[in-house]
Amino acid sequence: MAAPRGRPLLGQAQGPAPTDDETTRGETLSPLPGGAPRGKIGLFRASSRFPDLSPRPPPRNRPEETPPLASTPPTPPSSDAQKLPLLQGADVLRKLEALRRRQEVRYYAFYSSQLGGVVTDPALMVLPFDDHLVHRGHGIFDTAAIVEGKIYDLDAHLDRFMRSAESSKLKADPPKEEMRRIIIQTAALSGAREGSIRYWLSSGPGSLELSPAKGAEAGFFVMIFPGLAYPESYYTQGMKVMTTTCPIKPPLYATTKSTNYLPNVLMQLEARERGLDNGVFVDPAGNVGEGSNMNVAFVKEGVFLHPKFDHILSGCTSKRLLELMPGAMRRGIVKDFQVRDIPLAEAKRSDEMMFIGSSINVAPIVEWDGQKIGTGRPGPAARALLEVLKEDMKGGKDRLIEIPY
Ligand SMILES: Cc1ncc(COP(=O)(O)O)c(C=O)c1O
Repeated sequence: MAAPRGRPLLGQAQGPAPTDDETTRGETLSPLPGGAPRGKIGLFRASSRFPDLSPRPPPRNRPEETPPLASTPPTPPSSDAQKLPLLQGADVLRKLEALRRRQEVRYYAFYSSQLGGVVTDPALMVLPFDDHLVHRGHGIFDTAAIVEGKIYDLDAHLDRFMRSAESSKLKADPPKEEMRRIIIQTAALSGAREGSIRYWLSSGPGSLELSPAKGAEAGFFVMIFPGLAYPESYYTQGMKVMTTTCPIKPPLYATTKSTNYLPNVLMQLEARERGLDNGVFVDPAGNVGEGSNMNVAFVKEGVFLHPKFDHILSGCTSKRLLELMPGAMRRGIVKDFQVRDIPLAEAKRSDEMMFIGSSINVAPIVEWDGQKIGTGRPGPAARALLEVLKEDMKGGKDRLIEIPY
């Protein structure tokens, strides 16, 4: 889905070349709060007249330079030193655009508190490299879904975002209510009626240290994109998983949705290298944890079983399904439900197993470590719980926010 054209956004790089006036002028374009001067959003377009902001390099081999100390490695011959191009602002923009042309991406809109507005050209969806989110992983994120032009369960996701901010010692800047407004407005500007919203909080730029730099401004970023794509066969034939060899994160890190997803990435790669769909973490006590970016649950003799949330991410989808369990019991989908430690051996004897999450919704797992789960085919409870969730995503009372396109 293409983002709407002609909107008062930042950085629609395809626009006509701006006049000198336009590149420098501040215009009142959008009521988006945060970041740059309030109510004023600078119109920033890709252009060959992009101002040259790059710092000048120190001069090389100038005769008046102090001679190098004896221990300093010899200066490479200037022909070698000249091999890397020294880029100016306009070159950088062209390179970023070329990068995006070489590798097609589908991102509808991006808000950055550092830019103080929204861009729709992926070449302009950038962060300063010295932001601590980039080089130290000092940042958090969360993801909510857009379904039929409405945002599903945003407040549950924002509450978890605030908890993650606190455990990461990140300042909630802008405050939660303003983040909520920015998210809704960015979704509106994207024009997307189906997709995902992912948003991040960073400790900001300013140094390559560990602790935030002096005067660092927290960064808040929002991306509207189509969402993660899972094959239809996950739902029709079921998924195959393995117990990962990657150690589960200790509870502090597992319950915080930080940008440190290395174990989660490695477990998915490990499974895919073995021709499987995903992995499952097991904790040091031998209890089931979660998947790479989803929770895992079981059904045994009609009872829905979910691991406790003290050592895994508190999944908004699982939490919502647990709220909907009494209704599922009335409909005869399950007889009961329990949230407790689930030992690996018990889990493997379950009748049904499923992944649950905002991106995957509810997907049946039919094989684990080469062993069939139940009949080895998608089970009725997983299918029915997917329906329960989908109904809630489309009509859930108090769970949907209308996007003001
Ligand atoms: C590690 C992990 N566990 C569980 C989940 C499921 O959470 P949610 O239902 O909020 O998407 C996610 C997804 O965000 C995740 O990354």
